[in-house]
Amino acid sequence: MNVLVLGSGGREDAILTFLAEKNPDIRLFALPGNAGMEDKAVLLPFCATDKDAVLAAAKANGIDFCIVTPDDPLAIGMVDHLEENGIACFGPDGKAARIESSKSFAKDLMRKYGIPTARYEVFTDKDEAKSYIRRTGLPIVIKADGLALGKGVVIPSSMEEADEALERMLSGQAFGESGKKVVIEEFLDGPEVSVLAFTDGRTIRPLVSSMDHKRAYDGDRGPNTGGMGTIAPNPFYTKELQSEAMEKIFVPTIRAMEKEGCPFRGCLYFGLMLTADGVKVIEYNARFGDPETQVVLPLLDGNLLEIMQATRNGCLDKVGFSFVDKATACVILASGGYPGPYRKGMEISIGQNPADWIFFAGVKKENGRLSTAGGRVLGVVAVDDTIQSAVGRCYEAIGYISFEDMQFRHDIGARAIGGLNGI
Ligand code: AMP
Ligand code: GLY
Repeated sequence: MNVLVLGSGGREDAILTFLAEKNPDIRLFALPGNAGMEDKAVLLPFCATDKDAVLAAAKANGIDFCIVTPDDPLAIGMVDHLEENGIACFGPDGKAARIESSKSFAKDLMRKYGIPTARYEVFTDKDEAKSYIRRTGLPIVIKADGLALGKGVVIPSSMEEADEALERMLSGQAFGESGKKVVIEEFLDGPEVSVLAFTDGRTIRPLVSSMDHKRAYDGDRGPNTGGMGTIAPNPFYTKELQSEAMEKIFVPTIRAMEKEGCPFRGCLYFGLMLTADGVKVIEYNARFGDPETQVVLPLLDGNLLEIMQATRNGCLDKVGFSFVDKATACVILASGGYPGPYRKGMEISIGQNPADWIFFAGVKKENGRLSTAGGRVLGVVAVDDTIQSAVGRCYEAIGYISFEDMQFRHDIGARAIGGLNGI
């Protein structure tokens, strides 16, 4: 069987790794993939958002199953295009992917079906948006409606900052069309939890929870990034909260999508906040999270390929899987300056180290040697008995890895470990 994974990040490297682990007989392809994946998959050097190129490459390589993971190809209907042309896919179609690609669609869905989330209004007119913020006051959260590389959320600290964000978004200057509509919502407070869940449109089966660290610098300071590290499971997400989320959020969301005529099939990512007022949805993503996937898949006791096929074929209730009672940590090694401008082409050196996996993201090969080619470069992952020991092993491993300007957070898991100790 030939299986293609679309994308080129650490998340895709993790997916390839765990597909191969339980299915030694399948042939793996990545499009475009990255140089660090060369020993796991055949790399197809095309653009993952070019529908015709992807279809042609899939046909030419006899692909039986295509896993579409990044947000952009999902949003433009890559799954629709491949399925219509006879290639079975894992991932939602374009209509269902709106749950991520349009924040106003997601918010309206939650409002209509009573799914707990922050109160909000949608605006396209900057004067109306500004006067709304003057009525409600700060703190407030301004979000670009469309995809914005994880940078579309602003929590202004003054009215001037709010006005500036609105001007930049609604004029199209900040994010083009994605920002010409904005959602302005109530500021919520509490620990954040990421939950990835497989769903075939009727059955929903959450995976182990995790915690992302979105800010660039230690102590949750600095700009938002795609994610600088993760731990799983998330200790704040107790059994009671899991039941509450299942009953009030997960099941109502998939029922709502079904009722709206766009059942969601694939991996649905719930970004949750544990507020004093109960569990609320901060965002949905129509895909696996990055770097959540890197800590969640190691704890999955089951065959990832079988689960993905069952998700696509509408029989997720028939496939058996469970979770290992251990903890995982992932620390991202980024290029200095990320998420702002950074230099590329720094040679990467990886010595013998105690990590369980190093997943490759922004890397390329030059003269047979790996060098940096993106913001997030490597994800160092360890599984252990506790979060503390898993995190410890990641940091020990980082001592054996180097490239010029290497930037990483030194406190991945600290809040979770503090939380465990009642801090
Ligand atoms: P999003 O892209 O929607 O996940 O937002 C990025 C980050 O902004 C989240 O992980 C939160 O830390 C923060 N955020 C988003 N919405 C809210 C909210 N309503 N209240 C407080 N923080 C928020
Ligand atoms: N780590 C957050 C995301 O994948 O969107």
